[in-house]
Amino acid sequence: MSFHPPTIPHHAGHGEVSWTEAELAEVAQILARYPTKRAAVMPLLWKGQRKWGWLSLDVMRLVAKSVELPPSEVLAVASFYTMFKKAPTGKYLIQVCHTLSCALLGADRIVHHLEKTLQIGPDGNSADGMFTLMRVECLAACGSAPMMQVNDDFHELLTEAKCDAIIDALRNR
Ligand code: FES
Repeated sequence: MSFHPPTIPHHAGHGEVSWTEAELAEVAQILARYPTKRAAVMPLLWKGQRKWGWLSLDVMRLVAKSVELPPSEVLAVASFYTMFKKAPTGKYLIQVCHTLSCALLGADRIVHHLEKTLQIGPDGNSADGMFTLMRVECLAACGSAPMMQVNDDFHELLTEAKCDAIIDALRNR
């Protein structure tokens, strides 16, 4: 069996990126918390995502430099976790779990309803840039399936009506 490195779709990058002086001091503090620099990859990816909104290859290269790893290793970590955004997303990132419990209790129905409501295709962005819809693996709320995560918030025991209320509330924020 041959090994295929993780691939990500091509999106325009951020260009040259760097930490500010203040951020460099924070990076140093983060690195000091771990026994090895490589162990700080995830917190630094978070930091990059918070600052730039998503993790372009440019941001991943900066993180790689900060932890003294090859960029390919940082890309492998970022590719493994769905919480890391490898593409620009809308203001609200909607991640619908489609693993077993959620699948059995209607995840497909929820995704199709959201696609129709938001007028977007699978893994797409809405035309107004407000919403990105993704299917993701288990988010560890299986007891209240079907569920989705919108940015940092979980929404559980979903129905179509509940989705409508959530989307309306987000649109009117
Ligand atoms: Fe959906 Fe676990 S199966 S949260």
